[in-house]
Amino acid sequence: MPPAAISPNRLPRHVAIIMDGNGRWAEARGLERNRGHLAGVDSVKEVVRCVQDLGLEYLTLYAFSSENWNRPDAEVSELMRLLEVYLEENIAEAQERGVRLRVMGRLDSLPASTRSAVDRAVDATRDNPNGDLIFALSYGGRGEIVDAARRLMLAAEAGRLDPELLDEETFAAHLYLPDVPDPDLLIRTGNECRVSNFLLWQIAYAEIYTSPVMWPDFRREHLEVAIGDYQSRERRFGMTSAQVETVSETVSEAGRGSRA
Ligand code: FPP
Repeated sequence: MPPAAISPNRLPRHVAIIMDGNGRWAEARGLERNRGHLAGVDSVKEVVRCVQDLGLEYLTLYAFSSENWNRPDAEVSELMRLLEVYLEENIAEAQERGVRLRVMGRLDSLPASTRSAVDRAVDATRDNPNGDLIFALSYGGRGEIVDAARRLMLAAEAGRLDPELLDEETFAAHLYLPDVPDPDLLIRTGNECRVSNFLLWQIAYAEIYTSPVMWPDFRREHLEVAIGDYQSRERRFGMTSAQVETVSETVSEAGRGSRA
């Protein structure tokens, strides 16, 4: 059940999070940066549970960007290790809660042990029905768009696609996870206000919420505040306010007596 501050009627279907501030959290405490990543795993666990408790359908976490490969080797190795441990330790809970673990990104670049842990978690939870937990790994939004363009060009070359007929829907169908709806809410922690190459295509109409809280301190109550803030906004999708009102009245008329 949603807490009082959150309306059960206008919950986001898909929340995406840029988890930022691990390094600064650690440095502020005189600790190694990797200690911040370790502490950040607890925030991941809590946010995943909260999203499940609220009944949201999709959560996408930016766990490792394509640019993160440029970090010092020891930091990259630790991030991979934490991910492997998280996946091993959390398959059982994902099974219990019926969560499906998924990944998006250039997975071929991952170390073999990380790739195996990912494959095991994805395979084991493939048929779970209670929501998708998606890790963006070795992920970059521009890379995803380039990969989609490459697949489209190959399809055109093979005569399976007429370039004249290419539209947004066909393009989106060639992204990494075409069945996943666009995020409604994009949260970035760590007091920064940048998109950092995350889900560039998919966030076209996402509401963006930035939090000053460093990721290792981000807890259930912070997520609930972000969702409450989202619910206070008017999503216009390029329309005027008056048009939005008419559309939502029509939708609620049509949906009266049904779940729509
Ligand atoms: C950004 O903090 C965070 C990351 C680069 C990765 C996020 C990783 C985790 C939360 C831990 C492991 C993940 C999983 C899924 C188990 P930053 O280092 O850029 O922080 P800074 O801006 O303060 O330097």
